[in-house]
Amino acid sequence: MEQRTTRWRCSVCSTSLELVPTERRWLCSQGHSFDVAREGYVNLLLAQQRRSRIPGDPPEMVRARERFLATGLYRALTETVVAEVSSCNPRAVLDVGCGEGHHTRALEAPEVLAFDVAKIAVAHAAKRDQRTSYAVANAASVPLADGVVDLCVNIFGPIDSSELARVLPAGGVVVAAHPAHDHLKELRSLVYRTARPHVVKDPLRDRRDLFQLTDTHELRYRFTINEPATALDLFTMTPYRWHAVPQIEQAIIEQAEVGFELTADFVISVYRRTAQPLLRELGHLTPPTIPHLVRTQSTSVS
Ligand SMILES: C[S@@+](CC[C@H](N)C(=O)[O-])C[C@H]1O[C@@H](n2cnc3c(N)ncnc32)[C@H](O)[C@@H]1O
Ligand SMILES: [Zn+2]
Repeated sequence: MEQRTTRWRCSVCSTSLELVPTERRWLCSQGHSFDVAREGYVNLLLAQQRRSRIPGDPPEMVRARERFLATGLYRALTETVVAEVSSCNPRAVLDVGCGEGHHTRALEAPEVLAFDVAKIAVAHAAKRDQRTSYAVANAASVPLADGVVDLCVNIFGPIDSSELARVLPAGGVVVAAHPAHDHLKELRSLVYRTARPHVVKDPLRDRRDLFQLTDTHELRYRFTINEPATALDLFTMTPYRWHAVPQIEQAIIEQAEVGFELTADFVISVYRRTAQPLLRELGHLTPPTIPHLVRTQSTSVS
């Protein structure tokens, strides 16, 4: 039977949304209506929340990432994040900036919600995954009530610390994965004359009042690409693609023809939402209780 209520809230008036099953749309008490797309996601992004005509990653980037991740070359990243999440036993997980849902699909929790600002990415994700509740939304204005998820995942995505603090109750967890110093340094050295190491992100550093860093570790390994198409997909899914000129693409192809050896270098940070400032009123939805959010294992990878 289809679920009638949802944790998502109306992006216009912030009241809760209910499914009108026969019409495949979500409706709030004020009459604002959001259609359920053919693929099963709901677009909660308002026109004024878009910064461009097609917000988020462009279609070719989405497709390149989908093909690249399907090769399994970042499987260790998925597994590390999944283990980190599972060790917390969350009931409701939110994947912020989920892209085409490659990592989202692997998350283990009774309830998984995910959003991205790129509609095409969310459509791809929803088509492959009926279990997760997908929405198109902006990280700067998350259409969820306060304190309704107990863990947020953020893999190479944008983070709005205030919004994460709002949707998580005290004790809630953030698992964030971002590039570490040497991530894809070999690719970068083909693109830039002087390839500087990545500045490692501690994405919630600015809000130590709201988030305590409880664990951080590096996941680093080498991998080889032998297919020129896969090497170009990797290039296309990175920000380096903005520097694309035919000579760089040719150099990438030539590297792949002889076996392009690359370094994957990620930093995985785990934060716990502090009790302060005090939680605001939680609305009609009961927030998850938090004592079950206890780490049961260490997943450090070196
Ligand atoms: C590097 S991709 C990572 C996607 C996915 N987490 C993964 O690791 O495969 C970053 C994603 O953030 C999305 N994004 C960018 N700005 C956003 C925003 N303001 N709100 C929500 N998503 C956003 C992009 O559309 C893109 O899908
Ligand atoms: Zn409304």
